[in-house]
Amino acid sequence: MIRGKFITLEGTEGVGKSTNLLFLKDFLEHRKIPTVITREPGGTLLAEKIRHLLLDPDSETITETAELLLVFAARAQHIKHVIEPALAQGNWVLCDRFTDATYAYQGGGRNMKISTIEWLETTIQGPLRPDLTLLLDAPIEVGMDRAQKRGKLDRFEAERLVFFERVRRAYLLQLELNPERIKLIKANQDLPDVQRSIADALRVFLR
Ligand code: TMP
Repeated sequence: MIRGKFITLEGTEGVGKSTNLLFLKDFLEHRKIPTVITREPGGTLLAEKIRHLLLDPDSETITETAELLLVFAARAQHIKHVIEPALAQGNWVLCDRFTDATYAYQGGGRNMKISTIEWLETTIQGPLRPDLTLLLDAPIEVGMDRAQKRGKLDRFEAERLVFFERVRRAYLLQLELNPERIKLIKANQDLPDVQRSIADALRVFLR
């Protein structure tokens, strides 16, 4: 059995990850590649419970350390019970966010130490890293507008603009540090153009 590939989608709020994840799935399945769609935080029963704790806007104040550890606790479950088994069975795993989000939100947004995140990444993931990451990037105002139209804001969405500016900057730094793995997709264009860029990146990856 040939191991599948691990593809992640990243970006700030409201850049269109969900829609484009489905596009990605169709694109691959059209080429007879079996896919499994999942998300972080979440993907298993326990990890989805942790997601609920993390996003609940009415929660007590969650310390930055607790937030970081909850994110990685969910990730440990997700890797063991969903991602690794699916890859081993030859599926391509398409994941809505992964550890680049931790560098962006906890590292950039919350100013947590990068060395702590790196230590957790190595400890919890071992050698597992995405094979390809599509970073959907748009000015913060564009995405926040879309997020606000979706209804009540979750604990992250309720953050201020400067928080998301830091998150976006940290994502772009991840891109700079990992140019081979991360591909930038400009998300503030019409959907057909965004999807054309995604298809182009996929075609290069499949070569
Ligand atoms: P979303 O997947 O619906 O966009 O929401 C998940 C939220 O969780 C999003 O605001 C980003 C946040 N998050 C982190 O802060 N750190 C992480 O490592 C991950 C995966 C998500």
